[in-house]
Amino acid sequence: MYRTHTCGELNAKQIGQTVTLSGWAQTIRNKGKMIWVDLRDRYGITQLVFEEGKTNACVWENVKKIGREFVVQVSGKVIERYTKNPNLPTGEIEIQVETLTILNASDIPPFTIEDNTDGGEELRAKYRYLDLRRPVMQKNIYLRHRVTKLVRDYMDGQQFAEIETPYLIKSTPEGARDFVVPSRLHAGNFYALPQSPQTFKQLLMIGGYDRYFQIVKCFRDEDFRADRQPEFTQIDCEMSFVEQEDILQMFEGLMQFVIKEVTGKQLDKFPRIPFEKAMAIYGTDKPDLRFDLPITDLTEIIKGRNFNVFDSAEYIGGIIVPGQAEISRKIIDGLTDYVKTPQVGAKGMVYLKYNGDGSFKSSIDKFYSPEDWQKISSQIGMNSGDILFILSGNRTETLTALGRLRIHLAEHFALINENDFAPLWVTDFPLYEWDEEAQRYNAMHHPFTAPKAEDVGLFETNPAAMHANAYDMVLNGMEIGGGSIRIHDAEVQKKMFRTLNLAEDEINEKFGFIINAFKYGAPPHGGIAFGLDRIVAILAGTSYIRDVIAFPKNNAGRDLMLDSPSEISKEQLDELSLVIKKENSVEK
Ligand code: AMO
Repeated sequence: MYRTHTCGELNAKQIGQTVTLSGWAQTIRNKGKMIWVDLRDRYGITQLVFEEGKTNACVWENVKKIGREFVVQVSGKVIERYTKNPNLPTGEIEIQVETLTILNASDIPPFTIEDNTDGGEELRAKYRYLDLRRPVMQKNIYLRHRVTKLVRDYMDGQQFAEIETPYLIKSTPEGARDFVVPSRLHAGNFYALPQSPQTFKQLLMIGGYDRYFQIVKCFRDEDFRADRQPEFTQIDCEMSFVEQEDILQMFEGLMQFVIKEVTGKQLDKFPRIPFEKAMAIYGTDKPDLRFDLPITDLTEIIKGRNFNVFDSAEYIGGIIVPGQAEISRKIIDGLTDYVKTPQVGAKGMVYLKYNGDGSFKSSIDKFYSPEDWQKISSQIGMNSGDILFILSGNRTETLTALGRLRIHLAEHFALINENDFAPLWVTDFPLYEWDEEAQRYNAMHHPFTAPKAEDVGLFETNPAAMHANAYDMVLNGMEIGGGSIRIHDAEVQKKMFRTLNLAEDEINEKFGFIINAFKYGAPPHGGIAFGLDRIVAILAGTSYIRDVIAFPKNNAGRDLMLDSPSEISKEQLDELSLVIKKENSVEK
């Protein structure tokens, strides 16, 4: 038997017992006549003690051979510790070792296996199996398991069936590029890896499986961000005979359940904010509601004082930060530099301080009198002691910039309570968005999304004005899920594709299978998919989803441990009838 107990469970109650433990030597403290080893496994750390003269001579010789991360098995007596460690569950005891077996040696690890490791990002990616030993990573990966299990419990309780769908498929239009897999048997043909199981879950509805879900890998060849990986996991769901309201309730319930079980917090009913309103008040369709700082539209209020930047602007908006009128010029300059960074893209920023003594100070006092400021501040509910930051320009760009500034201000003034959960639904998305580069419409969610019933007549006349029965779930400023009620009528589906500028033969070639299926009694249906990685990341308190994925890619899409993607042999290429153009081959 390798162990009678784990390294996380012994305490004063077992004093006097003889136990056997197995694990990794985390730290070795050799003080000459005494040696202490911290033995670590999945469950915790237990201190081992060896003493020259007292410990069996053979064991004493052996312990001196142990290095960091050696795998060892020990037996010995649980004794009370002389200096207790109240921070450790096993901190009251140590093991007086009687036998020691080195189960496996270890090279010196390239970084310390601790939460505060000295290993950089790249090194840890290359030795991911060592990184995975760190307690913080273990916590994240077990949390992920727990969340997955809770999701399955909830869904099972609601009569959902988990059904697998294929990975080698034909392209699905989710807006990213496909990863493709060449076919050997059908030279020159390719499978695509699913960006999501969207069409399959709809076909399952037509197949009569009225409540489907799947915890499933999805693949998207798109730009990297902290919250994006090229392969990621969705909790993918679909229901028949439902309206939007049914879906919102079912999945609000899912998130409430998961968060309650993991954190003990019972979330209230989720607020619902229409897309347009979210953009106007928060400058984003994924607002972080853990703090307030709404955007105020100043366009009509502030123009007309010969300040050309404002007078010529399509839109002027501001954010009031309560109680911060006393911040220094240096801080304001820092915030102004922030809005000028490429990720925000503003040309400059105006500030207005409403001082505690009732006076005003702004960067454009040349154009505005104290009376002007008095009037403006009372119109927008700004109080003495507050500061207002103003951006202006094109409406969409300025709102987006204000949205970023809003988050930056919240971080700067420490207005975010990291322990809060602020979920919401964003609803009433436009059906289409205009793609300036391609000069055509794109589906804002995906092309299977149903328009609002009252907008169905606008396909030919005014697609830009159409709204969708689509919704996103947002948690702490992150989009954690998105879905829609689907089109289930073959004719409406064709109209949708036509507006996306797809030619008839292209529609048939790419989507004939689903349009055909709609002709055989497709039930009304709708669904949603959640980003499992994102949900777990929020619960784990990290903004990087790679921290909750056992084997993630780095931000260049590489697996540094496997050194992948990599070239394949000439034989493999030949078998697949592929030729790599010399100028396209990558220098490593
Ligand atoms: P959507 O494209 O909105 O919808 O994706 C659903 C959710 O998946 C997560 N997500 C990602 N997570 C990590 N890395 C990525 N690259 C990534 N891309 C998306 C997000 C997102 O909200 N088929 C539809 C769903 C439906 O209509 O039912 C779909 O895939 O959390």
